[in-house]
Amino acid sequence: MGSDPIIGLDEVSKIYPLPSGDVIALDKVNLAIDEGEFLAVMGPSGSGKSTLLNQIGSLDVPSSGNLSLGGRNIRDMSDRELTSLRLTMIGFVFQKFNLVPLLTAYENVEYPFILKNRKSDEAGGHVSRVLQMVGIDPVLATHRPPELSGGQQQRVAIARALVNDPKIILCDEPTGNLDSENGRQIMGILTRLNGEGRTIIMVTHDPVVASHARRTIVMQDGRIS
Ligand SMILES: Nc1ncnc2c1ncn2[C@@H]1O[C@H](COP(=O)(O)OP(=O)(O)OP(=O)(O)O)[C@@H](O)[C@H]1O
Ligand SMILES: [Mg+2]
Repeated sequence: MGSDPIIGLDEVSKIYPLPSGDVIALDKVNLAIDEGEFLAVMGPSGSGKSTLLNQIGSLDVPSSGNLSLGGRNIRDMSDRELTSLRLTMIGFVFQKFNLVPLLTAYENVEYPFILKNRKSDEAGGHVSRVLQMVGIDPVLATHRPPELSGGQQQRVAIARALVNDPKIILCDEPTGNLDSENGRQIMGILTRLNGEGRTIIMVTHDPVVASHARRTIVMQDGRIS
């Protein structure tokens, strides 16, 4: 492992041009995150937390500044390379789970795996193992998201984020729609994944949830305060 951070932001800005005027969602943010870190991102609503996470996930190109992932500037990558990087290096977990309602839990997890590997005989065993790891048994795996509890849906969403074995897991309010017991279980899973060496970046409003992380940054008006 080199000494380069796995994620580097150099003066990254994100500006949304609107008829009412430009919104500066991120304002020249500098941030270095080492491999294996567990980082919490806090701050008031509208301070730029989700924008920061989406930039790190390279769901979006910065308006200015540079983002590097695994030591490479994303501006130097082709669209194909970026798509492949998003599929293999990064897993996303959202507050509202964002599962496909018409697919079963199993199929939701299998989908990104097939995108990466194509359908294969090994897919089934792998998908089932990842679901078991987050506590979804084979019967629950046949349910569609509306037939699962919030906590179960979030565990399926974590399995989906994990299925391609990403080094980085980005979570936007992963416990925001859960009661405290389910929230604790999700934090247990994230802590275990960090213990395996995965880099975790988690947006949260909840100081108790943030206390699981080893470092916390606070956003304010598009900057790290
Ligand atoms: N697609 C968009 N177009 C225009 N403005 C946007 C867009 N997305 C976000 N913004 C603005 O950028 C700023 C930062 O938004 P962001 O979603 O990152 O905040 P947040 O810290 O995640 O807030 P919350 O805690 O409510 O989720 C806000 O002022 C928001 O209105
Ligand atoms: Mg947000």
